[in-house]
Amino acid sequence: MNLEKLIRPNIRALAPYKSARHDHSAGILLDANENSLGSVLSTNSTALNRYPDPRQLQLRSRLGEVNGVDLKSVFIGVGSDEVIDLLLRIFCRPDTDRVLLLEPTYGMYRVSASIQDASVDSALLTDDFNIDRSATVKELHSDTKLIFCCSPNNPTGNILRAEDILWLCSVAPGMVVVDEAYIDFADTPSLTRSVSATPNLIVLRTLSKAWGLAAIRLGYCVADPSVVEYLMKVKSPYNINALTEHATLEALSLQGVRDSFVARIRSERERVMRELRSVRCVREVLPTDANFFLIRCADPKLVYRHLLAQGIVVRDRSNEPKLNGCLRITVGTPEENDALLSAIREIEIQ
Ligand SMILES: Cc1ncc(COP(=O)(O)O)c(C=O)c1O
Repeated sequence: MNLEKLIRPNIRALAPYKSARHDHSAGILLDANENSLGSVLSTNSTALNRYPDPRQLQLRSRLGEVNGVDLKSVFIGVGSDEVIDLLLRIFCRPDTDRVLLLEPTYGMYRVSASIQDASVDSALLTDDFNIDRSATVKELHSDTKLIFCCSPNNPTGNILRAEDILWLCSVAPGMVVVDEAYIDFADTPSLTRSVSATPNLIVLRTLSKAWGLAAIRLGYCVADPSVVEYLMKVKSPYNINALTEHATLEALSLQGVRDSFVARIRSERERVMRELRSVRCVREVLPTDANFFLIRCADPKLVYRHLLAQGIVVRDRSNEPKLNGCLRITVGTPEENDALLSAIREIEIQ
């Protein structure tokens, strides 16, 4: 990988903003126009009147520890959505560079690419939603800077095979971004440990799913340190706020709680999927490795409207390629799942 050639020239030449807290965070701090008297809110643990650490050294080091990598390989964003946006901004010249999506997949990649005015190419996944090597190779161009793979894939739920992803890294002219937002629900290990041997691999993770912390907005990537340096250069100085940083450090010491969420969600997932297989209007329940799954129905709009009328909201994915008839359902609490099952059983149509 020749990173310097892949990075946009203006980003390569960019002199980053140096914020006050970059150099000093202790002493008599009269350098950042903060409120020296304190904050209207008092918390025991966090000085809210001071700007947070722009380099997030403590949190990056802890996330590095959790993933078995050095802090220099960790970049933190306001949700993984911010990391996706920044990657597009550092690699893709508007109106010139391209990204490749393996569809059907998470819609935000296309939205963020369009905001950056990068051209979007699309290769369809196979019928069982794995990487179609020959269809994918046909869509690679010399100016394809980023390829997004989502594993487990949203909305199909399945893990993409690691050997296919690593093959893609070996043939890609640019960076391969593997979004592992749902990996905690799967049996397959994360690809974070492959990053050191695969410099054009970037792995995205988030606390929004298994950790149950969508509201604090904390996502991160594990990438080659040279890529992390560019991300640090373009991010806004204080992107991660002190409350989020504090909550994340606390959460990371509670892995057992996350594991018990995962175990309960997986067991409910198996129960709901099993019961849905005998529901008349459900033609197919597709296999999953995530905390959601697809069902295929003859009349998805009717099923969607019927559930909505009962106050149950699912996601209609039937207009996406290869997802004819499909609704996406997130695994809920046992009571929510029971409500879903009894509502869907009321539907008469085959
Ligand atoms: C595949 C995938 N990636 C990323 C995200 C966004 O995650 P975050 O909350 O970390 O921005 C989502 C949210 O639904 C998702 O489905």
